[in-house]
Amino acid sequence: MAKDVIVACDFNSKEETLAFLDQFTDCKPFVKIGMELFYAEGPDIVREIKKRGHKIFLDLKLHDIPTTVKKAMTVLRNLDVDITNVHASGTVSMMEAAIEGLTRADGTRPLLIAVTQLTSTDQTQLENDLLIKEPMEEVVMHYAENAKKAGLDGVVCSPLEAEAVHSRCGQEFFTITPGVRFADGEKGDQKRVMTPEQAKNNGSDYIVMGRPITQAEDPVSAYKRAVKEFLS
Ligand code: C5P
Repeated sequence: MAKDVIVACDFNSKEETLAFLDQFTDCKPFVKIGMELFYAEGPDIVREIKKRGHKIFLDLKLHDIPTTVKKAMTVLRNLDVDITNVHASGTVSMMEAAIEGLTRADGTRPLLIAVTQLTSTDQTQLENDLLIKEPMEEVVMHYAENAKKAGLDGVVCSPLEAEAVHSRCGQEFFTITPGVRFADGEKGDQKRVMTPEQAKNNGSDYIVMGRPITQAEDPVSAYKRAVKEFLS
């Protein structure tokens, strides 16, 4: 799949989400549906947005025993999303089971990517809460390599890590990067950010942008600006 800008539709109702998407009359952004919207509205919201012609990244971050993840993925594959994900910390066996469950009878499947370490986790939490003594950077790269070993297509990571992930796992291994802000915009609660152009130069394949687009005075212009900066 080609490089693209994914808009994080972090709304908690169908009405708000569809009213937001209705503003895009001459383009169909790639949409990220997260837990908030999916748990509020169920699978119908995925079908509705898909019916309107948008590509969908279903960001549910599955993490459970391999059998349960496989069965859950078997349900999700029928939703016809374009990308979905799991936690790499669920182990290589769990990620292999996820691929098995996601693969349809005809051999096709959505892209599957892994969350490495959440950007909300810091080195102290890694050491004290999770008893992982390695440096964060090494943990992220090791989890990315595990995802590749399991046959996944890429990882979610910071745009600052995209280049390193590509050099460890190959250029064809996707990096999907949130934490992107316009040069003149608010950072909000994202700490380490890059602009769309910097993310492009650092090797991101997809950037995920939420509030800089959803909360903009003119979301369509903000989206088009992100596309221009990231793709041109
Ligand atoms: O509004 P903002 O651009 O910060 O939205 C970023 C999106 O990416 C949100 O949906 C957030 O949950 C998600 N995300 C993130 N950092 C991660 C993983 C996902 O910001 N490490």
